[in-house]
Amino acid sequence: MKGREKLCVKLSSTFLRKWWFVVAVSLGIIFFGIIVEIFFMSWVNLVVNHEVTLREGSQTTQWWATPPVVPMIKVYVYNVTNADEFLNNGSKPIIDELGPYVYVEKWEKKNITFHDNGTVTFHQEKIYHFDESLSAGSEDDNVVVPNIPMLSATSQSKHAARFLRLAMASIMDILKIKPFVEVSVGQLLWGYEDPLLKLAKDVVPKEQKLPYEEFGLMYNKNGTSKDSVTMFTGANDITKYGLIDRFNGMPKLPHYTEDRCNDIMASDGSIFPPHLTKNSTIYIFDKDLCRKLPLVFEKEVVGAQEIPAYRFTPPKNVFASVEENPDNMCFCPQGPPCAPSGFFNVSLCQYDSPILLSFPHFYLANDSYRTAVEGISPPDPEKHKFFIDVQPLMGTAMRAKARIQINLAVSQVIDIKQVATFPDIVFPIMWFEEGLDTLPEEMTGLMKLATTVPPIAQAALCGVLFVVGILLLIVAIWRLVRGANRLNSLQLAPGHVGSPSNKSNKDVQMANVPKY
Ligand SMILES: *[C@@H]1O[C@H](CO)[C@@H](O)[C@H](O)[C@H]1NC(C)=O
Ligand SMILES: *[C@@H]1O[C@H](CO)[C@@H](O)[C@H](O)[C@H]1NC(C)=O
Ligand SMILES: *[C@@H]1O[C@H](CO)[C@@H](O)[C@H](O)[C@H]1NC(C)=O
Ligand SMILES: *[C@@H]1O[C@H](CO)[C@@H](O)[C@H](O)[C@H]1NC(C)=O
Ligand SMILES: *[C@@H]1O[C@H](CO)[C@@H](O)[C@H](O)[C@H]1NC(C)=O
Ligand SMILES: *[C@@H]1O[C@H](CO)[C@@H](O)[C@H](O)[C@H]1NC(C)=O
Ligand SMILES: *[C@@H]1O[C@H](CO)[C@@H](O)[C@H](O)[C@H]1NC(C)=O
Ligand SMILES: *[C@@H]1O[C@H](CO)[C@@H](O)[C@H](O)[C@H]1NC(C)=O
Repeated sequence: MKGREKLCVKLSSTFLRKWWFVVAVSLGIIFFGIIVEIFFMSWVNLVVNHEVTLREGSQTTQWWATPPVVPMIKVYVYNVTNADEFLNNGSKPIIDELGPYVYVEKWEKKNITFHDNGTVTFHQEKIYHFDESLSAGSEDDNVVVPNIPMLSATSQSKHAARFLRLAMASIMDILKIKPFVEVSVGQLLWGYEDPLLKLAKDVVPKEQKLPYEEFGLMYNKNGTSKDSVTMFTGANDITKYGLIDRFNGMPKLPHYTEDRCNDIMASDGSIFPPHLTKNSTIYIFDKDLCRKLPLVFEKEVVGAQEIPAYRFTPPKNVFASVEENPDNMCFCPQGPPCAPSGFFNVSLCQYDSPILLSFPHFYLANDSYRTAVEGISPPDPEKHKFFIDVQPLMGTAMRAKARIQINLAVSQVIDIKQVATFPDIVFPIMWFEEGLDTLPEEMTGLMKLATTVPPIAQAALCGVLFVVGILLLIVAIWRLVRGANRLNSLQLAPGHVGSPSNKSNKDVQMANVPKY
């Protein structure tokens, strides 16, 4: 007992005090290493959250407003090659898939206004330029396609009074309107004058739909959108980063029966809330899609510059019929009958035209729709699936292929002689792939840095801290042991120096260290 007290006195002598100090420092370093190990990633996340948030004048905001990317839309048109036989002879329609017709896009957000509550309002501009060298044809190629305005009008008149249908037939006779039109690809997309729409515009009261006299599948899309979008910047709540708050001032869609389906709290497809996991469901809203589209994790992919990304794709039952996926019931406000499996009815967003969206080549729909026409190859998920690759840490879209097919659900109407022989059919019109292949190097470089550096920095920092801490600790303990022994041999009676007591001193000292 007494020997131990003496030893304590010796150990705290001036000579050894500095080594106790070193022990304290090394323990501090090891403790700091543990703190770094535990909290480093949270600090990185805080930095990421701060960096991605949209603020006036920041680099992120500049990239968001004027993305330095080259998105492209590839359009494939289904040319009907036996229109007359189909109408007069009841043969299967034979169609020829033409394309791609490639348009290079330039995106810019216009009239950006930041609000105090963590939102920003803007108008999206998209400019399309035809790229002949990437296309398999010219914009002037003539194609034969169903007359969408006419067949929409006749299909809608199915439940109207008979005299209306007869009147419609004579008007169409006078205007020489036929169930198929021959137009150029450019006209089909960007607009051609349609006699029926022109008539409707002159006749129908102003406040009632059809604001155009031209018809085109992408009519009025080249330029700045009239729709204002209000989006969360992430400043107040990073989990809402990039999600749409209001569309044209409206917090949700007016079309459906439940808020679940009317909800538009979704991304516009460019940025997503950061820190995505494999369990995350991300959503994309597009006006023409008429709903927000859910996408779930499919697999890990490696993007440009080896940056890891998650591939998100719509769940297989996204457009399933209400029997297979009862969640879709609220998308069918006037049904049943509702859209068949694999189709989404957008007629409420398309001036009541019977337009059904699907994936290209009727992917995920019953094969009977594809085989109802001749000339469409079986769907291939690699070519026809909708997907988007997102960098999960920052929520940036790195690669995307938004693929949608536009179909017209024609109803047979016997009273209108022009279409009396046009059977009930889901007629494919065209499909497109709006895609982004790579990000520019300035963006991928930064993403590479942000994804690879933190884990390496964490490992390196922790490693250095642990190694230095432990080395210092070992040295300090060793010096303490030696110092104590030396003091022993210097100050204690010579008889006490010897291997047995030496050993016991060591034990004592080891027992003492943690007490400090
Ligand atoms: C589309 O089909 C029609 C026949 O219906 C044909 O005259 C026309 O040349 C075809 N268009 C192209 C670009 O092949
Ligand atoms: C209609 O079908 C019959 C028999 O299938 C065929 O012989 C005839 O040539 C077809 N008519 C036209 C206009 O294609
Ligand atoms: C954008 O702002 C300018 C001036 O502030 C205005 O003249 C223009 O109409 C706005 N554009 C849209 C689409 O709101
Ligand atoms: C934020 O403020 C803008 C403009 O005052 C408003 O339009 C928007 O609805 C507000 N959003 C939220 C979530 O409060
Ligand atoms: C879109 O508009 C730009 C000018 O604003 C024009 O140069 C371009 O040709 C247009 N694209 C199409 C496909 O009409
Ligand atoms: C994902 O969800 C499953 C079950 O819901 C859960 O077991 C798993 O831990 C979750 N994974 C992550 C990364 O959140
Ligand atoms: C599409 O929706 C409209 C409006 O809800 C409805 O009248 C029409 O019957 C639907 N079409 C199909 C094919 O379900
Ligand atoms: C496809 O539709 C046909 C008839 O319309 C039906 O008999 C068949 O079971 C359907 N196939 C699938 C896979 O649902």
